[in-house]
Amino acid sequence: MTTAISEVKNTNIHWPSYTFEAALTASNKINWQVEDLIGGDKRLDFSKPFLPESLARVEPLDFLSPGERLILNQIRGHDYLYTFGLVEEFILPFVLDQARPILRGNDARIQALLNFAGEEAKHIALFKRFREEFLQSFGSSCDVIGPPEAIAEAILSKHPLAVALVILHIEWMTQRHYLDSVADNQSLDPQFKSLLRHHWMEEAQHAKLDTLMIQAISEACSDRERSEALDGYLEIGGMLDAGLMQQVQFDIESLKRATGRAFTTVEVDRLIEVQQQAVRWTYLGSGMSHENFRATAELLKSGSRLRLEEITPVFS
Ligand SMILES: [Fe+2]
Ligand SMILES: [Fe+2]
Repeated sequence: MTTAISEVKNTNIHWPSYTFEAALTASNKINWQVEDLIGGDKRLDFSKPFLPESLARVEPLDFLSPGERLILNQIRGHDYLYTFGLVEEFILPFVLDQARPILRGNDARIQALLNFAGEEAKHIALFKRFREEFLQSFGSSCDVIGPPEAIAEAILSKHPLAVALVILHIEWMTQRHYLDSVADNQSLDPQFKSLLRHHWMEEAQHAKLDTLMIQAISEACSDRERSEALDGYLEIGGMLDAGLMQQVQFDIESLKRATGRAFTTVEVDRLIEVQQQAVRWTYLGSGMSHENFRATAELLKSGSRLRLEEITPVFS
């Protein structure tokens, strides 16, 4: 189902006061290119961590040396590049599908949505370029889940309201990653931090635009569709979780290759236990517990906030 983004309707539901005009103005002020962030003398510094510890969670793994913990942090940084590239593979066509019905219009809505799509296409290129840079210098291979096209197809087959909720989760999650644990972090590799900062700058508008898209889609939906949206979101979350758990297994293999270490069964179990929760928090818990995400879910169906609060500990 594709729904035209309509003007805000008068309802008793109090949606946030975001506007396409404000998002467009903010988006137009930001104008960075991939080449500004990576390439030439702008290289990744492998003597520094790529992800903040709140996302990487390598420090509890005391049977790893500091150098080995740093390598695991960087493997997780590589995953971050890949995972964001992967999710943006389904965000881009979804946004274009939402923009298509209003292409004949000539207002801020279409311009804002086309900027949104264009920025996500740029982000896909950004994450890909950083990943190439990583793999050129890391010294060993890192396996990843996929292919992205198959995952995108499976997600896009779900109800648009559920997909839009997943996208909203991702947009707010990106905001949270940067503001909570990257902005003031002086120990991260400057190039990786620059990627996270530039991504955050544009995602701020996406979070608002996605809220507006959810409002428009929900207004065209039946009560039943609205009440089932969170179930659809959780179903997609379950699919993503299964992929992420597979990624943790790949990461342990990547760590073995990069360090030349063999781990005991107890050590592997500990690696899996700590990293599964780290990955769950990074991509699932930090989004579903974002107050703005919960507020939007609650607008679709009363009780959603409580349901999300009850589920979050599994992903924390
Ligand atoms: Fe993005
Ligand atoms: Fe985005």
